[in-house]
Amino acid sequence: MARIELVNLEKSFGFVKAVKGLNFTIEDGEFIVFVGPSGCGKTTTLRMIAGFEDPTGGEIRIDGRVVNDLEPRDRGLGMVFQSHALFPHKNVAQNIEFGLRMKDVPAAERVKRVREVAQMVRIEHLLEKMPAQCSGGESQRVALARTLVTNPSTFLLDEPLSSLDAKLRRELRAECDRLHQVLKHTFIFVTHDQEEAMTLADRIFVMHAGEIVQVGSPMEIYSQPANRFVADFFGSPSMNLVNGEIVHDNGALRFRAAPFDIALPDRFKSAAPGKGTLGIRPESVSVAAGVSKGDVELPVRLVEPLGKDTLLYFEADTDRPFVAVTEGFDMAHVNVGERVPLSLDPRRIQLFDATGQRVEASA
Ligand SMILES: Nc1ncnc2c1ncn2[C@@H]1O[C@H](COP(=O)(O)OP(=O)(O)OP(=O)(O)O)[C@@H](O)[C@H]1O
Ligand SMILES: [Mg+2]
Repeated sequence: MARIELVNLEKSFGFVKAVKGLNFTIEDGEFIVFVGPSGCGKTTTLRMIAGFEDPTGGEIRIDGRVVNDLEPRDRGLGMVFQSHALFPHKNVAQNIEFGLRMKDVPAAERVKRVREVAQMVRIEHLLEKMPAQCSGGESQRVALARTLVTNPSTFLLDEPLSSLDAKLRRELRAECDRLHQVLKHTFIFVTHDQEEAMTLADRIFVMHAGEIVQVGSPMEIYSQPANRFVADFFGSPSMNLVNGEIVHDNGALRFRAAPFDIALPDRFKSAAPGKGTLGIRPESVSVAAGVSKGDVELPVRLVEPLGKDTLLYFEADTDRPFVAVTEGFDMAHVNVGERVPLSLDPRRIQLFDATGQRVEASA
């Protein structure tokens, strides 16, 4: 059992405020993913929870008890570090059993537990090998096993899959998912990979510059991003973001940023006129049918056929090209420079105000 609460948790390194007043509760058995760009404070937060870093302010509570002054080994948590150093002169089995030796677990029990966890992460065949003889993916499995064997109430995993190739990453990601389903313990998993966050999390905590900017289920984060930063961070390719003006025109609400002049759906009727940003995901932009002019006509800049679908990049007065995803190869042969009419799915349009906060839809 482990319910973890952070209350106004802070960490400064000299003048650098790495973590700025975090407040949240993680319920027993949840799979939480901390995600955010490099340097936003993910590792620092995890290390404070684990007890390897002293907070400069605030409290950490585990099951209601303040643990700020508890040694890491007395917190009942298990951490897999961002750089998963194994002991180079111990073989895999000895690496895994190390935590049990520290707890004076008898030898016969140690052997049994090492076999069990090795089986769980599928490294039974590696037990006699030395770390230098293991591949990157195998070492990461060993690091995971080394934490598993101590049977912690909570797993703290700091980018445990970072050094793997895409395929192995997906495989081990599925492994983490399976472990969570079997063990039902609390997992806090750190990554800067938005796709990993989307696939693993019960709830995602999005961090930016030492703060948590949004907490939500993967679907909430994807479809209702709290602000421009979150909107931009999740999804690949990223959400199209067009800076312009929200205007009231003869009782109708429009968004204008040449060449865009888009009727905004009714749900935005309470939006204040003035500067704003329109957001639309590439999968919600479609090539308008022959008869329709669509919402906007843009010249093609680049065509990327990916097999399952084709990405079309358009010239627009935006920081990045405007992107549409079309199915299959239908649009793979369109010419660069050709003007294509595009429709924006009105149900999927997002609006952000001048400060970058999402405009809530009104009923
Ligand atoms: N020991 C330290 N001394 C000084 N500054 C530090 C120390 N550890 C971290 N920082 C600073 O604190 C901030 C947060 O660092 P942290 O390692 O928590 O980021 P992160 O989100 O884990 O990034 P990454 O994705 O690159 O691992 C950064 O600005 C970093 O430079
Ligand atoms: Mg880190």
